[in-house]
Amino acid sequence: MKTNKLAPSILSADYANFESELKKLEASGAEYAHIDVMDGHFVPNISFGAGVVASMRPHSKLVFDCHLMVTNPEKHIEEFARAGADIISIHVEATPHIHGALQKIRLAKIRQAGVKASVVINPGTPVESIQHILNLVDQVLVMTVNPGFGGQAFLPETMDKIRQLVQLREEKGLDFDIEVDGGIDDKTIHAAKEAGANVFVAGSYVFNGDVNERVQTLRAAIQD
Ligand code: DX5
Ligand code: ZN
Repeated sequence: MKTNKLAPSILSADYANFESELKKLEASGAEYAHIDVMDGHFVPNISFGAGVVASMRPHSKLVFDCHLMVTNPEKHIEEFARAGADIISIHVEATPHIHGALQKIRLAKIRQAGVKASVVINPGTPVESIQHILNLVDQVLVMTVNPGFGGQAFLPETMDKIRQLVQLREEKGLDFDIEVDGGIDDKTIHAAKEAGANVFVAGSYVFNGDVNERVQTLRAAIQD
């Protein structure tokens, strides 16, 4: 049984007060801070880059779960590793060189102990597109909305891919985490957990209310 983890997304936090927002998350017992990096190219929005990650790093012990929604992510891996990312997630759709890009994260790990490699699939991307690189990853992120914006509705049809990944993990004797991202709240989290996800990103649900209360509600929903 994999350990459950909550990963609030600071995409919905107050950008002028990242330090206090991170402190709130830490006090709530969330394990990760999910950091959505958008380049205005792979997705329509622009959010924040490695400089913001580096500025936040001294103020938080949370695991920094950096979700790179950028074209050719291999160009930015070293920079995010140096900025203090603990997990680097890259989209299979964002590069023709996913195998090489994941190897780059693994090399960065040698220099910055503990950097983990994660691969992301969009709602329209099949599990088959990553089945040959699953041995290279610590985590698979299954998007439960189309990436680009917070506050979108959860797509239940993505749950089949989680079940498929659980089966492949077992068949191949692998150990990666399965993360879900998009439209997760106190209701949709049940379906994701039941399908086999164990890392749960939530942006608007956590920050559009009392952070501590919302994290506790999500925690109670995923209690084994
Ligand atoms: C979507 C981002 C998500 C986003 C989730 O492109 O990758 O991490 O912040 O936001 P909610 O939880 O509001 O759907
Ligand atoms: Zn994300």
